[in-house]
Amino acid sequence: MGKVLTIIVLFSIYVIYSGWVFSPGTSSGVRMTQKAINGKNLWHSNNCQNCHQVFGLGGYMGPDLTTVTTDKSRGKLYAKAMLMNGGTRMPNFHFTENQADELVAYLDYVNNASTLQQQ
Ligand code: HEC
Repeated sequence: MGKVLTIIVLFSIYVIYSGWVFSPGTSSGVRMTQKAINGKNLWHSNNCQNCHQVFGLGGYMGPDLTTVTTDKSRGKLYAKAMLMNGGTRMPNFHFTENQADELVAYLDYVNNASTLQQQ
């Protein structure tokens, strides 16, 4: 009888715990705007991840961009300027101002979805 009771108690705890862990789903709660979606498409079509990482994934020629839009030493204006003009090693993609804004919107979405963002 003791063993059966133990199994029932453990199974009940397993069911309740699983329900509690999985009920919020996997959504981060950060919604993507159309502008950010356009930026994400530009990110992929221009292979930015060959040189850059977001969330630690990607190439290592360029810096990690997960929190570029909120870093105190970088920020949105710096990111946009880099996108419009290129850098010493960062290529100039000749983006329009609108495309640069879309890429910054995507990078800002990444930042907001990240737990690394600076306060
Ligand atoms: C050939 C490699 C390469 C590719 C491809 C590339 N970048 Fe870069 N990027 C760099 C390097 C290297 C830097 C650092 C600045 C420098 O040395 O020019 C940089 C800097 C940046 C910065 C400024 C952040 C910082 O910390 O300096 C942003 C924003 C950026 N890149 C975004 C992008 C986006 C968006 C794309 C795709 C459209 C892209 N990069 C494609 C190499 C690359």
